[in-house]
Amino acid sequence: MKKVLITRKLLRSCEDKASKLFNPHFNSNDEQYSQKKLIELSKGCDGILSSLTDKIDKETIEKLPATIKIISNFAVGFGNIDIEAAKKRNIIVTNTPDVLTDATAEIAMLLILGACRRANEGMEWVKKENWKWSADFLIGKQLTGSRLGILGMGRIGRALAKIAKSFGMEIHYRNRTKLNNDKEMGATFHDNIKSLFSVSDVLSICCPATKETKDIINKETLEYFPTGAIITNVARGDMIDDEAMVQALVSRKIYAVGLDVYKGEPKIHPEYLKQPTAFILPHLGSATKKTRTAMADLAIDNIDKYFKTGNAKNKVN
Ligand code: DGY
Repeated sequence: MKKVLITRKLLRSCEDKASKLFNPHFNSNDEQYSQKKLIELSKGCDGILSSLTDKIDKETIEKLPATIKIISNFAVGFGNIDIEAAKKRNIIVTNTPDVLTDATAEIAMLLILGACRRANEGMEWVKKENWKWSADFLIGKQLTGSRLGILGMGRIGRALAKIAKSFGMEIHYRNRTKLNNDKEMGATFHDNIKSLFSVSDVLSICCPATKETKDIINKETLEYFPTGAIITNVARGDMIDDEAMVQALVSRKIYAVGLDVYKGEPKIHPEYLKQPTAFILPHLGSATKKTRTAMADLAIDNIDKYFKTGNAKNKVN
């Protein structure tokens, strides 16, 4: 049986499935392996089932044993892996698309609602037990009739567009390519970010983290937004220059943020914790039993298919 290093603890049913198909090396304490430990534990393994918390960079890949043929990432995002370095070593990298689309779109909507309707401040008030209803208490921004800009109209962006339309939002998007009418569902395409941001009363970042999208929200691009816009991010923290974002919140250029992902998470820019207008969650995008099970099952299937047929499903390099 092929030996597979599974770097993080999976749900029980998924570990059982892995045990039936491979000889897995589990991480029963769910510790976060250092790069050194990951390399050490890979010895004698044929594949790795990694998670988004494993930084599998060029240096790590170069030190992996020659027996490793596949790295199956337990996530749709794969910015944690240097896929070019893996390719050079003939290591296949796979991800888990589709299965987490709806769960992540739900969190994207939650961020929009939480940021627009001042959920963070509301929760703080309710804990203090001395809040009083009044006609102008915690007045927020209503979604009906407002414009939602979606940066990255892939599966998650499109699922969010559907939900947001039912809230009466008008959808605008920026994507590398314009979608066909079916996929566009009446949304307006923008061929540059300045044009998208300038019509975004609310922005949802749904695009992959790449060299091109790193810090795409920065001091200069924040100026493109209407004053009082809301920015939310369900993709990766790399897309936001946090210092510039915090300044924009303080100056009220940006009304509120809704964030589920952070640069260097679990670390988070300390100022977000101090801003009442920051509605922040700890990377919960795919965190439902149904979705986490489907993701792990798919990550396992990707490895199994490769071992059985020499072809990988959901290959990204
Ligand atoms: C992913 O799969 O990239 C998600 O961020 C996991 O929650």
